[in-house]
Amino acid sequence: MKIAVIGSNNVDLISYIHRMPEQGETIEAPDFRLGCGGKGANQAVAASRLGSEILMVTRVGTDLFAENTIANFKENGIDDKYILRTEGSSGVAPIFVDEQSNNSIIIIKGANALLSPQDLQDARADIEQCQLIVLQLEISLETVYAAIDLGKELGIPVLLNPAPAAPELSLERVKSVEFIMPNETELSLLSGMPVESIEDISNAAHVLLDVGIKNVIVTLGVRGVLWVTAEGEKLIEGNKVDAIDTTGAGDAFIGCFSHYWAETGDIEESLRIANLYAGDSVTKYGTQTSYATASEFKEKYTDKL
Ligand code: RIB
Ligand code: NA
Repeated sequence: MKIAVIGSNNVDLISYIHRMPEQGETIEAPDFRLGCGGKGANQAVAASRLGSEILMVTRVGTDLFAENTIANFKENGIDDKYILRTEGSSGVAPIFVDEQSNNSIIIIKGANALLSPQDLQDARADIEQCQLIVLQLEISLETVYAAIDLGKELGIPVLLNPAPAAPELSLERVKSVEFIMPNETELSLLSGMPVESIEDISNAAHVLLDVGIKNVIVTLGVRGVLWVTAEGEKLIEGNKVDAIDTTGAGDAFIGCFSHYWAETGDIEESLRIANLYAGDSVTKYGTQTSYATASEFKEKYTDKL
């Protein structure tokens, strides 16, 4: 199974704090972790650890983070052929996680902002070999649209994770995707509709189906996911776990879904397994550091896989 992930990589600087600071206040963080992150890289690493072959198209800077990021991709079995270099800063994400495991994230796009439609053309011959293209919104929208158009041209299904929420995203430009996977906030922004109840969420999802998107999969945190198509909808329930750090759980979900869907083509079963995988990740610190390998995952959930 070959999956193309066209997207970001960041260095995550995670401060674990008792509570968020007030304006003008200095507080101390009792714990800190540095790790590899970025929504694109996270999704790629999750799918790779589960056994997919990943084509990663991304840009790093020329700072001290870049080498570490490239080494991390390699350690996770991801080839560096299209890990491109841009003069200047790599993507960086200062993250704050409080005692309730709520997180706040600041993203400095750095080199990610410069991943271009031309970069995709340069990788075209390799992208053509993939069964799925996975996208997020930490690169320029122009490049996201170019990737969607390329998928359409090559007949490769596209999964778009519209995160972080981008008010300028045009539904019209993304209507050919096979899967869109927003959380509630992103869905509300995309549809211009409220998302208070499951019924609201379903109505909002229909706005996306109406433009032509085939599968709207709304991630609802611990409640699981709502999968909506023109034919009907299904709530796939989440699993109760003791969360300590939810950062990157959405990416674990998408990476895992991509892996299983590319392997089996079974959407519902892949969503059920992705719930388990994302649930497992929130019981561990960090983003990629909390993603299980295939053998760890299978061992832990033998009765459910
Ligand atoms: O989704 C989690 C990710 O968001 C983090 O790894 C951070 O880098 C930000 O991109
Ligand atoms: Na985690």
